[in-house]
Amino acid sequence: MRIVLVQNNPVFGEVTGNLDRVKALYGGRKGLRPDLVIFPELFTSGYQFTSKSEALSLGEGDGRDGREKGPTVRFLEEFSMETKGWVVGGLPLRRGNKVYNSAVVTHHGTIMAIYDKTHLFEAENRWFERGSGPLCLVRTEFGLMGVMICFDWLFPEVTRSLALSGALLIAHPVNWVLPFGPQGMILRSVENRVFTATANRIGEEARGGFKPLRYIGSSQVVSPQGEILGRAPEDAESLLEIQCDPELARSKRVVEESDFFRQRRPDLYRN
Ligand code: ACM
Repeated sequence: MRIVLVQNNPVFGEVTGNLDRVKALYGGRKGLRPDLVIFPELFTSGYQFTSKSEALSLGEGDGRDGREKGPTVRFLEEFSMETKGWVVGGLPLRRGNKVYNSAVVTHHGTIMAIYDKTHLFEAENRWFERGSGPLCLVRTEFGLMGVMICFDWLFPEVTRSLALSGALLIAHPVNWVLPFGPQGMILRSVENRVFTATANRIGEEARGGFKPLRYIGSSQVVSPQGEILGRAPEDAESLLEIQCDPELARSKRVVEESDFFRQRRPDLYRN
């Protein structure tokens, strides 16, 4: 399976320009034949909202609730038609008077799943609604794929639940600012014996008097054994292409006689 991570640097609020830029970034690399392309969290809107009205105005429709599909949703559909594969990308989705920090999964031109971020980070709580579940699992020809968004990773129950449900690979759009994300995700892969594919953005935002944010790039794919199969730079727009075999995530053995899932003791864990 070939995975491409797109690491971009969006300008806040400039959805059309940001889409043109990722198209140019992708178009500059001929010969990619990805089965799965992952774009970062909020990759066309930018991250640092300053009000709920701003989030409402950038919130896109997904074709349900009588609201037309927005430009990023249409792009994700069209792009998956072009690549003839799977695409995952993060964007603000609007439903009524509510906005969610969501990921849309498309395949061959069709929306296959929508996931609303469950664990909102810091100021996101002021404009986004948190998703009410369920966690996101998508059946693909490469096995089950889980989807989570950024801060969800620091709630280990999310990756664990997806892995227990059979996910072999977790697609993970992020806007990482905390420095320990890339190293921390190695453990998420190892403890669940799954592939994790994290797509981050780069650049800085300092809007509306909020604390300036610097995004740390370092988009990466990690194997169930904790190997970094590829990692993008911290400060450059880039495409990262890696190949992996998701079947390797079926075994939950860490060493010959120790199986992470069989040795769990849920009878002792607090829920
Ligand atoms: C984050 O959840 N965007 C840090």
